[in-house]
Amino acid sequence: MKVLYFTGTGNCLSVAKRFDAELLSIPQMIKNNIYEIEDDVVGIVYPVYAISIPDIVRKYLSQCKIKANYVFVIATYGFTDCGALHEMKKLLEANGNKADYYASLLMVDNYLPFFDIETQMAKLKEKNIENNLNKIVEEVNARTTKEEICSWFNKIASSIGYSVVKQIEKYTPKMFYVNNKCICCGICKKVCPVSNITQEEKDKPIFGNNCESCLACIHNCSKNAIHIKTQRSEKRFRNSNVSLNEIIESNNIKFNN
Ligand SMILES: Cc1cc2nc3c(=O)[nH]c(=O)nc-3n(C[C@H](O)[C@H](O)[C@H](O)COP(=O)(O)O)c2cc1C
Ligand code: SF4
Ligand code: SF4
Repeated sequence: MKVLYFTGTGNCLSVAKRFDAELLSIPQMIKNNIYEIEDDVVGIVYPVYAISIPDIVRKYLSQCKIKANYVFVIATYGFTDCGALHEMKKLLEANGNKADYYASLLMVDNYLPFFDIETQMAKLKEKNIENNLNKIVEEVNARTTKEEICSWFNKIASSIGYSVVKQIEKYTPKMFYVNNKCICCGICKKVCPVSNITQEEKDKPIFGNNCESCLACIHNCSKNAIHIKTQRSEKRFRNSNVSLNEIIESNNIKFNN
């Protein structure tokens, strides 16, 4: 079994880790130019962004050929997945791929402009993540077939939602503010999946124009020094089953570990 995943704060990696599989980080697949994935079973785990699919996942899967007897898709989200699974189905089919099983999993919402992490952590119990994830893992291991089911409203919302949000909210360098707590440790540039951060030695990080808006740099900063004006929370999040090194190994496409 192979599982393709993309993660900013570890939720998707924590899900991918639950399978007895070779884990394939999408940024690393792009870096190594691997666009053919073949195995008996292949999984795809991605976070819902703007009720749809992150650009990096979209771009990769629009070129990747998946050859497997059973393909499963899991979207993690924090508030509403809307038609994000339907978007994935369309994306896969447009490139000649198909999945046998679709599920979404409500987890901690890491999107700081809309949610504060304190409230999210307080909701952990009611989100019932462990039980819901166990059920998904059981179904996949039993090779269950499950279609994505989505209302026509959600289909329309997700098909236009992402491009609209992308236009309104662009993560330009001006969005980020790095305060004096920064110790120039270089972690932010190593967790960036698109190498959008550069840093001269003993200098604060510099953000480029290629941001994926994953918030990995902000949530994983060792000193909580990176902020955005729209943040609803000072508190940061990384899934407790995932280490900082695992995020770096997943996303670092350029710098020495
Ligand atoms: C840019 C961005 C957009 C997001 N949009 C949504 C959304 O539309 N709906 C939702 O429920 N969660 C949304 N989220 C929350 C993530 O989908 C959720 O926290 C996910 O589990 C994060 O996975 P990760 O920890 O593997 O990065 C968004 C997060 C980010 C960073
Ligand atoms: S991770 Fe935080 S402390 Fe380290 S260089 Fe980046 S901004 Fe500075
Ligand atoms: S700059 Fe930060 S938010 Fe943007 S892609 Fe890199 S890690 Fe993600």
